[in-house]
Amino acid sequence: MDAFQTLGKEIKSLREQLIMKERLAALGEVSAGIAHEFRNPMGVIAGYARLLLKSFDETDKRREIVQSILKEIESMNRVMEELLRFSRSEPVNKVNLSITKLIGEIIHDTGEPEHIHFTSNEPVIVRGDETLLKQAINNLLQNAKEAGSEIWINVEKGISSGKEGLFISVRDNGDGIEADDIEKIFMPFYTRKAGGLGIGLSIVQKVAMAHGGTVDVESRKGEGSTFRLFLPV
Ligand SMILES: Nc1ncnc2c1ncn2[C@@H]1O[C@H](COP(=O)(O)OP(=O)(O)OP(=O)(O)O)[C@@H](O)[C@H]1O
Ligand SMILES: [Mg+2]
Repeated sequence: MDAFQTLGKEIKSLREQLIMKERLAALGEVSAGIAHEFRNPMGVIAGYARLLLKSFDETDKRREIVQSILKEIESMNRVMEELLRFSRSEPVNKVNLSITKLIGEIIHDTGEPEHIHFTSNEPVIVRGDETLLKQAINNLLQNAKEAGSEIWINVEKGISSGKEGLFISVRDNGDGIEADDIEKIFMPFYTRKAGGLGIGLSIVQKVAMAHGGTVDVESRKGEGSTFRLFLPV
């Protein structure tokens, strides 16, 4: 590849990042607005439902109906919370942290470390926001768990768009992703899962950008997927 081609590729990738950033910001604002408008009336509905519940005596069959209403409101509230969390742009608090230690903790917290393969010999230090990085790696892990039965995590040094940094890759033995789907999966609210919200990967993208990094995927239908988070050091 000659210098012009390399430059062309970099400009294209920068432009794509910028478009994604603007799209994320616009969507964040819209979803925050909607979530906000829905939260109050939903609180009022829940309040009335609770009053209604109190007015029935213990044996009343109608209690079950009201309890179902409250359960649904509860699950709508969770979606709203998730949307608000997604659209909030929290300040990035970068510290020096050991990414290998962080991954170890994340794996431990899943409660099923036997299916997650990660070997690291030495601590690898990056400058990053611990909460955000944890969330991003967790989201990749969650998707991998939903896709397959075994997961491999790897941390290695490398170069991306001329910048030195770290690649954190999460590979699974799931079904992989259709070629048509690959360009859509990072879009906010794109999901193919019944109970999915479609924001897991958008958050990963947001976190990557907040660190001056990127995220990409290599996957073929039937062959599993590898997501790579790049963090410049
Ligand atoms: N490891 C993977 N293997 C196969 N498909 C994947 C994988 N990770 C993501 N996808 C595809 O990308 C889509 C978007 O993923 P994303 O994490 O953004 O949302 P979600 O998992 O559907 O919902 P949420 O993360 O909000 O609960 C998924 O619905 C799935 O189709
Ligand atoms: Mg997900």
